[in-house]
Amino acid sequence: MQETSTSDTWMPLRVARKQSVAQDIVLFELTHPDAKPLPEFTPGAHITVQVPNGMRRSYSLCSLPSDTHSWHIAVKRDARGRGGSCSMVDTVQEGDLLPTLPWANLFALQDNAASYIFVAGGIGITPILSMVRHLLGQGQDNFKLYYCSRDAASTAFMQELSAPELAGKVHIHHDYGDLAQAFDFWPVFERPQNAHVYCCGPTGLMDSVRDMTGHWPTERIHFESFGAAQTAFADNSAFDVVLNKSGERVQVPANLSILDALRACGHSVSSSCESGTCGSCRTGLLAGQAEHRDLVLRPDEQARHIMVCVSRARTPELVLDL
Ligand code: FES
Repeated sequence: MQETSTSDTWMPLRVARKQSVAQDIVLFELTHPDAKPLPEFTPGAHITVQVPNGMRRSYSLCSLPSDTHSWHIAVKRDARGRGGSCSMVDTVQEGDLLPTLPWANLFALQDNAASYIFVAGGIGITPILSMVRHLLGQGQDNFKLYYCSRDAASTAFMQELSAPELAGKVHIHHDYGDLAQAFDFWPVFERPQNAHVYCCGPTGLMDSVRDMTGHWPTERIHFESFGAAQTAFADNSAFDVVLNKSGERVQVPANLSILDALRACGHSVSSSCESGTCGSCRTGLLAGQAEHRDLVLRPDEQARHIMVCVSRARTPELVLDL
């Protein structure tokens, strides 16, 4: 399900508060620059932000959706990423104006479900937290949250989620970076229940939940995957793209996306999330083999399309339908 608010223009939001909430995780509280109310959003929604280095990044809103005074996002600084999170965490300061696009929701909470099972890994807690806050705000306690993280120091919002009123609702599990200590979800998912499952976290966690819920009705299993396409790019290599309509050849260096390389040469390609999740930069692929890093294309689409914001090449050149 996709939901969006009505406007599609950039809106500057004021950074009213910047606060460390765990190791390498920083909370930004955003308000309207003229102190006007912000739109209500729906649980699981995200906003796209233009970070100071010019990149666009999508961040889940983690505050109470009905709170129109401010929106909260939390950003994990990833030194191995492409620079967006470091630019946010290192450069943005309280009082700054941050260009944002209106909220959208690719991870919407099903209303009136019999119950909910939430699974969050690391920074993946952010959309789940807006869902938990929403349900609690509605007086609903028909949920259980499994929150996996490395250790206490890296666990954002631990104090709030460990509050006595959430006892029995929230299970926080630390694996201390040891796969052998990963939480065993099989007892949770072995018997399908009349619940909707929402999972957000690292690829390994989502794959594990996907595997263990294969016998559940697919419409009751929901995944959010920001950041999954942005990890471990240290081994990128350069390649060329050829624009089929003009024959122009554009070099894509290891430290730039195809999208950024095209822009640097004056070409305009639609984009929004720039993290491989929204689908707006879909481009025809006419020749060459892509290394798909997005979370949008189906396997049957991958031979003829590429998401140029994150994906790269397995061959020395790609020919694009541009
Ligand atoms: S801009 Fe969203 S998938 Fe590329």
